[in-house]
Amino acid sequence: MGETTVPFLDLSRRDEEMHAEVSEAFARVLRGGRFILGPEVSSFEEEFASYCGVRHVIGVASGTDAIVLALKALGISPGDEVITTALSAPPTAVAVTLAGGRPLFVDIDPASRCIDPSEVEKSIGPRTRFLLVVHLYGRLADMEALSRIAREHELLVVEDCAQAHGARAGNRSAGCWSRAGCYSFYPTKNLGAYGDGGAVVTGDAELAQRLRSLRDYGRVDRDLLAEIGMNSRLDELQAALLRVKLRRLEAWNRRRRELARRYQEGLADLPLDLPSWDGDEDHCFHLWVTGCEERDALRSYLGEKGIETAVHYPVPLHLQKPYLVGGRPVFSCPEAERFCARALSLPLYPYLSDREQEAVISAVREFYRRHRTYACGGNAART
Ligand SMILES: Cc1ncc(COP(=O)(O)O)c(C=O)c1O
Repeated sequence: MGETTVPFLDLSRRDEEMHAEVSEAFARVLRGGRFILGPEVSSFEEEFASYCGVRHVIGVASGTDAIVLALKALGISPGDEVITTALSAPPTAVAVTLAGGRPLFVDIDPASRCIDPSEVEKSIGPRTRFLLVVHLYGRLADMEALSRIAREHELLVVEDCAQAHGARAGNRSAGCWSRAGCYSFYPTKNLGAYGDGGAVVTGDAELAQRLRSLRDYGRVDRDLLAEIGMNSRLDELQAALLRVKLRRLEAWNRRRRELARRYQEGLADLPLDLPSWDGDEDHCFHLWVTGCEERDALRSYLGEKGIETAVHYPVPLHLQKPYLVGGRPVFSCPEAERFCARALSLPLYPYLSDREQEAVISAVREFYRRHRTYACGGNAART
């Protein structure tokens, strides 16, 4: 591994103007002396609701909690089956289990990398009550098809929007296609806090009210419990920061799309699986993930040049240890397994410079020039 020339993600980069606004926002919170569920959280909830085009936003402590709380508020019972994708970050599955559900992992459509609607239909059984859709890497899953299936089979749909801040389809934001959309504000996300944070978005006033109670132990006023909830609240400092960052989210997402376009163009003729994207405004490119047979060799070559990369994700959810029975997988998801063996994420974030991206593109091209055998044979496996 050479000295880092292009970091995969550098969260210390931001503009000076934002630095001043953040300092002022933090000073405001310190002066006000309210640290949990105060005016900054309420204002952020309103502003994020208006950004998403949804009626209610409930700030919570993390994206994982957002999913747990949404499932609980929708009335999950122990052992209820929750259909979800085999390809996602581990917390998608963990949240289902923490909420008392049993995840049914379903294979992906290799073009979208999101859950395959035709596979969803095949896995529905008498105990299946929920469909948890993940908008992976910043691209919306096929919500039209999935909503139709859910309606026919009376499934409650929840969206995991942890990677989809600002992603839309036909002007409808991630999270507005279902009963509840669950966001994470983990620092690396398109809208990231300086610590943990999350939110549930919903158009349903009754559900919103229950979520407000569930995030706060289950109480309905200071001393009265209605049910058993959690301690899962967004704090004032994070909310104040998120308000500053939300004003920049559209510009950051535009920059992400610009960088994505350059990767698509600069690497188009190589034997790589590129994200399928028609160049529209809907994708928010939380990650730019390619795939190839020779992933590990390419990754170490880039590493030698100081270019950091990552793998999202090396292990599909159905092969994670807690979901094996007697050491064996219970679900068959060959496309997700194939994808995990090939996936490679290249650096993409708003403060990545053009020069850094050019270095990444040149290094990938150089790898294939030096290893012509891959360049000739690789396309056979292309999706
Ligand atoms: C797809 C997905 N779902 C859920 C989560 C969980 O979010 P958090 O880390 O805020 O709990 C993450 C973030 O890691 C994620 O990427």
